[in-house]
Amino acid sequence: MKNIKAIIFDAYGTLFDVNSAAEKCKDKIGDKWEGFANYWRTTQLEYTWLRSLMKRHKDFWQVTEDSLDKSMKVYKIDSSMRNELLDLYKILSPFKEVPEVLKSLNEKDFKLAILSNGTPSLLNELVKSNNLDNIFDDIFSIEEVGVYKPDSKVYDIPIKKYQIQKSEVAFLSANTWDVSGAGNYGYNSVWVNRNNNIFDNLDFLPKHEIQNLSKLLDKI
Ligand code: LAC
Repeated sequence: MKNIKAIIFDAYGTLFDVNSAAEKCKDKIGDKWEGFANYWRTTQLEYTWLRSLMKRHKDFWQVTEDSLDKSMKVYKIDSSMRNELLDLYKILSPFKEVPEVLKSLNEKDFKLAILSNGTPSLLNELVKSNNLDNIFDDIFSIEEVGVYKPDSKVYDIPIKKYQIQKSEVAFLSANTWDVSGAGNYGYNSVWVNRNNNIFDNLDFLPKHEIQNLSKLLDKI
């Protein structure tokens, strides 16, 4: 990638491990913790897409609670776990290479930002709890436009703020549908394919595919 001026990251699933909340409770939840965590995540995302289509926006924290409530019923998780899971969701762990890669990018001459479905307060707490609060130039939340990814209005937020070309952005996400949305918008999209997954059939292929963020440094 040439002439990159801004490196923009998705947050949930890309920088921070969305399964880490349930994983920290695996002694209490038992073997079904991973199925439950995946179901919670899928339901949460479906609710974002459905709410955007229905034009009935609720912020990401409310959607996270609503999707947790359904998932706990489906997986028969004791209701006493609810608050613990929600508290842990606010302080999700980063993937292991993330802090070091972000710190080395911070020394270079790029704008570094997050662009996420999360609310501003959730995202601020998340980066703060992981000591990453001095890394980013901006933390962009979809709350600014009131609609969820992959609406183009979301990907437009940093372009308006930085007054740069779409082609000057490297956008990284581990979520295939987010890579498609960002590529459809015109970003150089980079798929962080941590688990050797298969990409979507949505008329779009990522410009680059890397296994984890440390491989990004070779691409820019
Ligand atoms: C985000 C979700 C989609 O951070 O992962 O925007």
